[in-house]
Amino acid sequence: MFAITGITGKVGGEVARNLLAGNQPVRAVVRDLRKGEPWAQLGCGLVRADINDAGALTSAFKGAESVFVLVPPNFDPSPDFHEARATAATLKSAIEAARPGRVVYLSTIGAQATQSNLLTQHTIIEQVLGELSMPITFLRPGWFMENCSWDIASATDDGVISSFLQPIDKPVPMVATADVARVAAELLQETWNGRRVVELEGLHRVTPHEIATTFADLLGRPVRMELVPRETWESLFKSQGMKNPIPRIKMLDGFNEGWIEFEGAEAGSRKGKVGLQAVLQTLIELR
Ligand SMILES: NC(=O)c1ccc[n+]([C@@H]2O[C@H](COP(=O)([O-])OP(=O)(O)OC[C@H]3O[C@@H](n4cnc5c(N)ncnc54)[C@H](OP(=O)(O)O)[C@@H]3O)[C@@H](O)[C@H]2O)c1
Repeated sequence: MFAITGITGKVGGEVARNLLAGNQPVRAVVRDLRKGEPWAQLGCGLVRADINDAGALTSAFKGAESVFVLVPPNFDPSPDFHEARATAATLKSAIEAARPGRVVYLSTIGAQATQSNLLTQHTIIEQVLGELSMPITFLRPGWFMENCSWDIASATDDGVISSFLQPIDKPVPMVATADVARVAAELLQETWNGRRVVELEGLHRVTPHEIATTFADLLGRPVRMELVPRETWESLFKSQGMKNPIPRIKMLDGFNEGWIEFEGAEAGSRKGKVGLQAVLQTLIELR
């Protein structure tokens, strides 16, 4: 049996669909049992657990051949990242107590970066979970193509997209969540020893310019990228309610300056199958 956290979200849901398609038994780990009902109807077991509840997570992970651990995104962490440290300690104690056979943790590109930024949350959790005695894989995908869902309205209605990724012609390692989930489902079913890292991106790297031209093709209207000046980010993010925008700004700097990169660079990453056009088409249809 495979225990899947984050199953009501993009990646976790698709991981579960991949496993169910292969007739594998799935335990849906949800924080709201009502949201798990559709999964129960698909034949999944259902367990309620918050990612910060060690006791509930222990029950959720007990008896699992393999567990998929997804930590919900936190775009506005405290300066000392104490939320990630607490989550790491909780996960470690739950996994130690439940002793599943293997663990696949959804991490990120750049988890090995030494400069502090938003992704440091995954660095912290990787370090703590890396101390576990059972086999663990850190799956490190690139920037999700589905982040473009934030741009659908402005691309469709105004023909303009604001880009924090800069310059406009700089290729960024991106990946479709369908590929992340497909690879995660494969990894969950593999056997290996110790700690390993799997880095994943799409077939080719994507520039902001390509995002605009792909939207233009799909929408049948001109779409242009508008670069948001770096010096305005802090006040902009604060005006949107962020208390501590520095980690997010440093993450964007890391992508733009190239120090957020795969440990094995482009040559060392696995490549997905799903392209940008297919992802944007789906996002437009879902609007
Ligand atoms: N976006 C990117 O470019 C990117 C790139 C690399 C890695 N990542 C990583 O990918 C992960 C996000 O994956 P995603 O996009 O699939 O997420 P998502 O669609 O936002 O889904 C988040 C999931 O987490 C669950 N969740 C939220 N708060 C929870 C809590 N307190 N306890 C237990 N579960 C909780 C949600 O359940 P509810 O339905 O109950 O809310 C949902 O199932 C993050 O760890 C992020 O850092 C993202």
